[in-house]
Amino acid sequence: MNIALISAEVSPFAKEGGLSDITSALPKAWQSLGHNAIIILPKYGDIDTDYFKLEPLDITISVPIGYWTEYASLWKTTLPGRDDVTVYFIENQDYFARHGIYGNPEGFKDNDRRFLFLSRASFELCKAIGFKPDIMHAHDYHTAMVMPFLKMQYKNDPFFYTTVGVLTLHNLAYQGWFNPKKIFELSGWPWQEFYPGSFFEMKGQFNAMKTGIMFADKITTVSPTYANEIRWTEYGEGLQEYLHQRSADLIGVLNGADYQEWSPEKDAHIVIPYSLKNLESKQSNKNFLLRDFQVPAYDLERDIPLVGMVSRLTDQKGIELLEQTIEDFIKYGAIRLALLGSGEKRYEQFFHYLANKYPTRVFVTIGYNNTLSHRIMAGCDYLLIPSRFEPCGLTQIYAMKYGTIPIVRLTGGLADTVKEYNPSTRTGDGFTFNGFRAHDFSIALRKALALYKTEWHWDQIRNNAMKKDLSVMYSAQEYIDVFIWALEKTH
Ligand code: ADP
Ligand code: GLC
Repeated sequence: MNIALISAEVSPFAKEGGLSDITSALPKAWQSLGHNAIIILPKYGDIDTDYFKLEPLDITISVPIGYWTEYASLWKTTLPGRDDVTVYFIENQDYFARHGIYGNPEGFKDNDRRFLFLSRASFELCKAIGFKPDIMHAHDYHTAMVMPFLKMQYKNDPFFYTTVGVLTLHNLAYQGWFNPKKIFELSGWPWQEFYPGSFFEMKGQFNAMKTGIMFADKITTVSPTYANEIRWTEYGEGLQEYLHQRSADLIGVLNGADYQEWSPEKDAHIVIPYSLKNLESKQSNKNFLLRDFQVPAYDLERDIPLVGMVSRLTDQKGIELLEQTIEDFIKYGAIRLALLGSGEKRYEQFFHYLANKYPTRVFVTIGYNNTLSHRIMAGCDYLLIPSRFEPCGLTQIYAMKYGTIPIVRLTGGLADTVKEYNPSTRTGDGFTFNGFRAHDFSIALRKALALYKTEWHWDQIRNNAMKKDLSVMYSAQEYIDVFIWALEKTH
C-alpha cells in the first residue's frame, strides 16, 4: 500500500510533542510491514540541513492558491537509521523559513495560509515525484485541509482517483479557527459552500478540524478511550456533534512506542544502559542524574524516591493538581522532583518557585532537551502524568519500559495503557486516579510511594512495567486495517 503521511511535526526534524514521535514511528513500522510510506513536512528554518543530510531535488512545484500560483522547492532525506523511509520537505521562504513551527503561544498570524499551502502542496509533491498514494494520512488541524482538497479538487485528477483520506486526531484542543473569506479565496473552494451548518462552518468561522472531520473517509484518534470521550461535551471541545455524526467512521487506534528509540538496553542518551536483568544500573542512572542536578554529596546518601515529569506545560497536563499538593511531599522529604518542560509562564513560575525554595530536592529545566528527557525516563523512580485530558500520552508508555512507574489520571490513552498495581495479585504496572481533584491525586501518589520501600512489590511492579509491550508495530498494523476499510468503502 502507498501511504503519504503529511504532518506539521516529525521527529527528529521538528518536534513540540508526541505528534512528532508517532509520525516518524508509524512510517518505519509500515515499511517493516512491507508497505511503501513517504513523509511530507515543511522545511522549517530550524531544521539543520547539513546535520540531517537534506538534499535539494531539482524540482519546483506549482501550487494553485486562489487565482494565482505559488511555488515550493523540494528537499529530501531519510529518517535517521532508516534508509528505507524517505522524508520530503516543502520549502517556501515566506511560509516556513522562520524560527518555530507554530509561533506559540499566540500562533503565527498566517498559520491559516501556511497550513493551507502545506496541505495543497502535498498533492503537487506526490505528482511531481510520481508517488501515487492509496492513502493520504493527515494529522491534526494543521494538515486537516488535505481532506477537503482531496474531495473538492484532486478527486477529479486521475492521479488521485483511487486515493482515500484518513485524518488522525491527536488533540482536539487545537482546531485552526480561521477567517472563512480568506480560506475560501486561497483554497479556491466555491464561496456558496460556506453557510451555517456546512462542512466548513462552525460558529461563523472556518474550522480546519471540523472540516477535516467532515470530509475524511475515515477518522482515527490516538486511543480507544479518547475516541469515546470526544463524543461528549466534556472532551469534545465543541466538536462532539460532528464526531457523533461521523461515529460510524471514527475509531481509536492506540499509539505505541518506537522501542528502537525508547528502550533502556539500547538508549544512547542514557549514561548506563540497563535491562530487567541488571536493574542496579538503573540506580546508577539515578545517581548520575542527581549528581548532574548538583545534589550535595551528603544528601545523595538519602534514598528518596525521585519523581519525574517531562511535559508541555499547558492546561491539558494537570499541573494545577501539583500546585495544590506537591509541596507537602517535598517539604517533608517524601520525594525529590525532576521536571523538564516548557509552556505557560504561570506553570514555569510555579516550578521555579519550588526549585528556589528546595534546591536540593527540586530540579527544574525549562526548555526542550531530548537527551535530558531520556535521562529522566531512566533515572527516575516514578513519572507523573495527572492530565486533565490526554488523547494518548507517550511518556507513560516510555516510562514503563524504563521501569519508571507512572502515576496517571484515568483519562484517554492513560486509561488504556496503565493498569493499577494490585498488591494481592501482584499485577499492574502503575498508579491511577479518577477525579480531577488534588485530593485524588495526592492519594494516588501516597499509594505509589508506599510501595517503594517494600522490595518484593517494588521489584514486581517494575518487572510488570518493563515487560509490557506497547510497540508501535501493533498500532501500525491497526492503521493498515483502517486504511483497507477506507479503501473498501470507497471503491
Ligand atoms: P503531548 O504530545 O501532549 O505533548 P505525549 O506524551 O504524547 O504528550 O508526548 C510528549 C513527547 O514530547 C514525548 O516524546 C516527550 O518526551 C517529549 N517532550 C515533552 N516535553 C519535552 C521537553 N521539554 N524536552 C524534550 N522532550 C519533551
Ligand atoms: C497529542 C496528545 C498526546 C498524544 C500525542 C501523539 O499531542 O496531546 O496525548 O500522545 O498527540 O498522538
